[in-house]
Amino acid sequence: MPLVPMKQILDEAAKKSYGVPHFNVNNMEQAQAIMRSASEVESPVIMAASRGALKYTDLIFIKHLMMACIEKYPKIPVAMHLDHGNGLESVKTAISLGFTSVMMDGSLKEDAKTPTTFDENVKITKECADYAHKFGVTVEGELGTLGGIEDGVGSGVVNLTDPNQVKEFLEKTGVDALAVAIGTSHGAYKFKIKPDPDKNLLAMDVIRKIHSMVPKLHMVMHGSSSVPQELIAQINKNGGKIAPTFGVPLWAIKEWIAAGVRKVNVDTDLRLASTAAIRKVFYESPEKFDPREYLGPARDAMAALVKERFIAFGSASHAFDYAPATLEDMKKFY
Ligand code: G3H
Ligand code: 13P
Ligand code: ZN
Repeated sequence: MPLVPMKQILDEAAKKSYGVPHFNVNNMEQAQAIMRSASEVESPVIMAASRGALKYTDLIFIKHLMMACIEKYPKIPVAMHLDHGNGLESVKTAISLGFTSVMMDGSLKEDAKTPTTFDENVKITKECADYAHKFGVTVEGELGTLGGIEDGVGSGVVNLTDPNQVKEFLEKTGVDALAVAIGTSHGAYKFKIKPDPDKNLLAMDVIRKIHSMVPKLHMVMHGSSSVPQELIAQINKNGGKIAPTFGVPLWAIKEWIAAGVRKVNVDTDLRLASTAAIRKVFYESPEKFDPREYLGPARDAMAALVKERFIAFGSASHAFDYAPATLEDMKKFY
């Protein structure tokens, strides 16, 4: 199967009310872990590269990693997505590499730190959507801001999405999916206390309200890593120093999916899984120095986590439900 537009993956997920994980990739082991598990559980794949990933891989390596994924696993639908684009240039770069989906994060200015006004967000997002749709490429926008800062990206301030602005934003920009803010944060440090159904750490009412107002909207949730406690313990046991922290529990993500969230962004959990595996090898076998002996276990640990997410979010067993759409099909649609 060739690369597919992300809109198709989300449309199909909406028909059967499941969620699809978005996994960030920066290197070969992550891409292999994701594809191996997707193939095992027969799930469609959303693979994402941030601007940081494009810089780290020097563009050309991410392009050929993506090509290797679809050549090795020709039956799995894969959407390649730009995570947190910060302007038309980043969108153009991703499309020139063959990405089938882009996020224009107009909730922040080009510095990826300063929150924008609603009108500024509309203007830049529409400009990018108009450009991307000419190529049949899917567009994700963002309304509201997350907490947390990753590699200098993010304002660090939570501004919950105002449900009353959503319809107008969709009409004015034409985006295919929308990231909403309900109190999640990027990175490992999301919550100081363990989220519990009666603690109200997340604004579930915001997603429920948006879903009731715009039931066909594909909502996207950033900052959705679960920060597994056993990984934190394994890292710290083997010389790491991660302060006490909690992520988003899988039960909460299942509630989001039932309320219309179709794309669930996970990056930190793969970082934690690989770090835990590598630290274990280094600590238990300090004589080892062949990278395959620690990158291999890192890849296995990521694959196990990814598999769990495909199953938990409900996308497992849906890879072969539909024939692949092409960007040419999407050009006609737009
Ligand atoms: O949303 C941010 C992702 O976790 C990507 O992080 O910019 O460090 O690659 P990054
Ligand atoms: P996490 O840091 O929770 O994995 O979120 C990743 C993300 O939102 C990527 O866009
Ligand atoms: Zn994000």
